[in-house]
Amino acid sequence: MRIRTSTSASALFTPTRRGRDERRQARRDLAAAQREARLADRPDHRTDTAVDELDERPTYPAAGRPGPASARGGKLKLPPHRMTTAVAAGAFPFLAEGGLGAGGIYIGRDVHAEAGFSFDPFSLYGKVEGFTNPNVLLAGVIGMGKSALAKSLALRSIAHGYKVYIPCDPKGEWSGVAEALGGRTIALGPGMSGRLNPLDAPAAPAGANPTDWAAEVRKRRLLLLSALARTVLHRDLAPMEHTALDIALDEVVADAEHARRVPLLGDIAAMLGNARRLDDALGDPARRLGAAAEDLAHALRRLVQGDLAGMFDAPSTVEFDPKAPMLSIDLSQLGSAGDDTGLILAMTCASAWMEAALSDPGSGRRWVVYDEAWRLLRHLPLLERMQQQWKLSRGLGIANLLVIHRLSDLLSAGDAGSRGRALAEGLLTDCATRIIYRQEPDQLAATASLLGLTGVETQAIAALTRGRGLYKIAGRSFVVQHLLHPAERGLYDTDSRMKA
Ligand SMILES: Nc1ncnc2c1ncn2[C@@H]1O[C@H](COP(=O)(O)OP(=O)(O)O)[C@@H](O)[C@H]1O
Ligand SMILES: [Mg+2]
Repeated sequence: MRIRTSTSASALFTPTRRGRDERRQARRDLAAAQREARLADRPDHRTDTAVDELDERPTYPAAGRPGPASARGGKLKLPPHRMTTAVAAGAFPFLAEGGLGAGGIYIGRDVHAEAGFSFDPFSLYGKVEGFTNPNVLLAGVIGMGKSALAKSLALRSIAHGYKVYIPCDPKGEWSGVAEALGGRTIALGPGMSGRLNPLDAPAAPAGANPTDWAAEVRKRRLLLLSALARTVLHRDLAPMEHTALDIALDEVVADAEHARRVPLLGDIAAMLGNARRLDDALGDPARRLGAAAEDLAHALRRLVQGDLAGMFDAPSTVEFDPKAPMLSIDLSQLGSAGDDTGLILAMTCASAWMEAALSDPGSGRRWVVYDEAWRLLRHLPLLERMQQQWKLSRGLGIANLLVIHRLSDLLSAGDAGSRGRALAEGLLTDCATRIIYRQEPDQLAATASLLGLTGVETQAIAALTRGRGLYKIAGRSFVVQHLLHPAERGLYDTDSRMKA
């Protein structure tokens, strides 16, 4: 049977016999009932009390920016002006940055454009002008969510097939993340069974010339040894000491090859203490080298006999697994009793070991995250070693993420014009992406001049709240609120221990 509808069945149909007011009221009632029904259907997102009010907060109050910058004096009177819409679009001052596109790793909300914000250094590389490297610098005061952002970047990039390496985790806060993602953690510390030999030679990449590769391995080992010695001695090495390190390393490597075992730091310390052997190897008739190496021998002894005894002076007990999605080295058991030197030395050895293991260019895209890197950057020798590593990383498909508190952490390695300063500035230049979380007021001027921030940007970083940062990406700026999934909140929480 066919049903013919001849009259409109509009929901708004009301008999004309009623008065106008009655019909209006009926329409209003219907609209209200429909709205109620719509709301009742919608799942209640707001029940997650964990969602921070701060996340949703607009950057500026409804009244606009405070002070004269708001341009709300009420005195501005302009004569009417007529123009085409094309010109008006260009003249309209309230434009937000268009964003980097939707590809890549989701970070959160661009608070100016009110849009989602995604970022992937690998896909921007070569696509965006001025984006010359995939490295990222992340700076901000404690508790602002730097580590949470680094962990989100790590976790979300694993979904894109990237791998993540944490060469030194002094607080042990990455272990839970690594475990949750099916990765591995190597815990080092007194009484623990883990051992790492920082002199491990990485496997040569496919197609590498063996002579060149041997020279490369030797260079890395020398850089490591001199960084360790200089950290303990708190001074630069004398020319004779450099020679002594050189010779001791060559002798130890030759011995180890002969005995078919791996060279160890303890062997180097012992060789440096063996004056006769050093002098013989150099062939110096005045026999001065042995005496010159005394300080070095004692400096390296700290790694063999001191608080780090055993940890870095034995064949590695763990094998580097290039297939694991994440690998972190947990150094939190190395209590920071007394000075920082023990932890610094351990961080140096651990990062040298991991960086060496990462030297295969065929392993795909990788992140190396240096959380709490400010500890490392204060020391010139470590800065030097790191810079060398960064130079290599570009060719290996590695993006480094450096987490520090303030930009002056970089500058504390030396005075203006010194080698330390030049190295630190080089490291900064080597980060095409700079993410600035809140800075202390006394840091604002230095930050602005180092990064070339505008007045508005400088003001903005002083007022950033948790999880919100200024992203400077190849000359473009974004203010982005990092959004966490409730499951991520639990995983990254570093506040709970404070609260408990
Ligand atoms: N975007 C965010 N939204 C909500 N909470 C966050 C956010 N970022 C960080 N937090 C929380 O803030 C606390 C401190 O963060 P953390 O990353 O450890 O800070 P930092 O490394 O800068 O010292 C953590 O408990 C974390 O869960
Ligand atoms: Mg942190």
